[in-house]
Amino acid sequence: MIKATVLIPAAGTGRRMGGSVRKQYLELCGKPILAHTLTLFEDHPLIENIYPIVSSDDISYCQEQIIDRYGFSKVQRIIAGGADRQASVRNGLDALAKDGFNQPQRPILIHDGARPLFDSQRLSALLEIIDKIGACIIGVPAKDTIKDVENNKIIGSPDRNRLWQAQTPQGFQYQLIRNAFDQADADGFVATDDASLLERLGCPVQVLEGDYRNIKVTTPEDILIAEALFGGST
Ligand code: CTP
Ligand code: MG
Repeated sequence: MIKATVLIPAAGTGRRMGGSVRKQYLELCGKPILAHTLTLFEDHPLIENIYPIVSSDDISYCQEQIIDRYGFSKVQRIIAGGADRQASVRNGLDALAKDGFNQPQRPILIHDGARPLFDSQRLSALLEIIDKIGACIIGVPAKDTIKDVENNKIIGSPDRNRLWQAQTPQGFQYQLIRNAFDQADADGFVATDDASLLERLGCPVQVLEGDYRNIKVTTPEDILIAEALFGGST
């Protein structure tokens, strides 16, 4: 199997977390969240290289305080992010093109810098599906009943049995994700995850069931939850 390249979008401002330090640099059990996240891929034999994507103001901080400090040898280079997540991933894909990527079937994984608790033992299964059908994301069945709401009024209650929460990593063969981003740019389509860009083109995307530990550290209470989850495993 071709080894994978990983893009790690970590260029957000952490508005919902608040505070003066961006959430990806907050420490959990004495190590920055982004360093935990990078370790998941650094240590996996099926991952060849990693491109962290951070705010342009943070590039030297990230290089010194994360990459050099923890010695991540698979980090190819750090990419400057964009105004929203999709623009950040786009910059990552452009960097791959610049670095001469030309294997159409190469698996490209995209994983939020703010998800330090992904169980990397799932990577081989994820990569196998990407190899077979082209696109696969990690997700979990929704626990809560989800309402479609407009102006505080419920306009729909989709059947919970069909609802899943999308997580990352999300992985795609290089040609598929490139084409999906090009089409989205051409149409001005913006979404909060990468799979949406393929779905709208009718490309099949499989879901591999993950676990509820793989939270995206988003609001202050997530720090407590993540600390507790790390406490049991490190
Ligand atoms: N992200 C990014 N570039 C952006 C915005 C987000 O690379 N312009 C990254 C974040 O750093 C994070 C991931 O995308 O790792 C998921 O985004 P989210 O959890 O929404 O993080 P933030 O955008 O930083 O948080 P908020 O929405 O609360 O401001
Ligand atoms: Mg955001």
